[in-house]
Amino acid sequence: MIDGGRPLEGQVAVSGSKNAALPILIATLLAPGEHRLANVPDLADTSSTLSLLGRIGCPSLTGTHVRVDTTRVAYWEAPYDVVRKMRASVLVLGPLLARCGKAVVSLPGGCAIGTRPIDQHLKGLEALGCRFRIEGGNVHGVADDLRGADVHLDMPTVTGTENILMAAVLARGTTRIHNAAREPEIVDLANFLKGLGAQIEGAGSSTLVIEGVPRLTPASRPHRIIPDRIEAGTWLCAAAVTGGDVTVTDVEPGHLEAIGAKLAEAGCEIEAAGTTVRVRRTGPLRPFQLRTLPYPGFPTDMQAQLMTVATLANGTSTLEETIFENRLLHAAELRRMGARIEERGGMAIVHGGTLSAAAVMASDLRASAALVLAGLAAPGLTEVLRIYHLDRGYEDLVGKARKLGARIGRVSDGERDHDRMLAATAAAA
Ligand code: UD1
Repeated sequence: MIDGGRPLEGQVAVSGSKNAALPILIATLLAPGEHRLANVPDLADTSSTLSLLGRIGCPSLTGTHVRVDTTRVAYWEAPYDVVRKMRASVLVLGPLLARCGKAVVSLPGGCAIGTRPIDQHLKGLEALGCRFRIEGGNVHGVADDLRGADVHLDMPTVTGTENILMAAVLARGTTRIHNAAREPEIVDLANFLKGLGAQIEGAGSSTLVIEGVPRLTPASRPHRIIPDRIEAGTWLCAAAVTGGDVTVTDVEPGHLEAIGAKLAEAGCEIEAAGTTVRVRRTGPLRPFQLRTLPYPGFPTDMQAQLMTVATLANGTSTLEETIFENRLLHAAELRRMGARIEERGGMAIVHGGTLSAAAVMASDLRASAALVLAGLAAPGLTEVLRIYHLDRGYEDLVGKARKLGARIGRVSDGERDHDRMLAATAAAA
């Protein structure tokens, strides 16, 4: 519940990256022993990953550092009830095949933002010597002897690159992944693996060269997860849509360049210094053109939030989604808040204007963020339903927004009458 229409102002510390933490937690499977990780975000997806590792036989402890003990692997399956909640569970495929020579992973199937197949993961792992059969909705993989190979990806898939990389580090000989994903999260995973003794070159470029080693061992120092560039980008958009002034701290400004450049085109002032980025909006928002692309292009995970920015601009913007085929679901909900958006295929044409408060329904993680931003901008009470999506990817969103001056609160079903909702948003605001 949000009582919107107030500028957000101040500093907000960005948490560790979800999309770096999940593969790195899973990569601990590659080196038997105790691992320590720092800056792991406290999210529903982190808990799901730790409980998946627990089912595999690897207990964990959370605290300042997350500790995972991968001494023994007792089980090599990621069942449907886990994969269904979190697609990233397919990342156990590469490590389990490399460590145990077998893995069973439920096929992810469709999700709200598209079909999202894993054919490229399987193709790459097959090139390394794995064999797969599909039975009962599960992928059953075996690998007697992993050997390095050349893998040519049809598209630079992020988790696909990670899965193949994690198998290749323990394969015999050299693996080259061509058309690899270049996202900062891949670089963080590669750095973590290097700390275990892996030999990897080219992380952050489109060709990864991996020289397999016989074994990996846990690092003596904790690995620190990189900052979450999507969380940071979302707070920067909060400044843009509310006419505020927000500084994100604990970030890597280099990872935020595409997002910052787009907000600058939209008329915001951007200032990067050290590990902070500040966004200020003093005048009207200008319309812009946006096309989602693999890194270093504009991230698909920020498209929904920029759509909210476009709804408030002084003119017509176009946003083209090229990564996922069904990722404009938030447009219909934004229309319920008064936005004028036409859809043509994967393109949204947004005629800017104003937003008005309404009850809206979140369909996926980043769509939820877009609706919260819309609620922060629109005067009056906006109710965003199904916010459990937000808990998958934003640590303490409500607490952080309140520190920036937002009137926002979580409301349980029993509290959903107008006065109580207002009280919930005002408390501690
Ligand atoms: C990751 C991110 C997600 C982000 C996405 C794109 C994680 C945990 N999630 O998801 O937040 O939105 O990258 O930046 O890191 N594809 C295939 N076959 C495959 C694999 C992918 O056709 O085997 C297609 C997908 O359907 C999609 C495109 O490739 O159209 C890119 O998807 P991909 O990079 O794989 O996304 P994820 O790794 O699932």
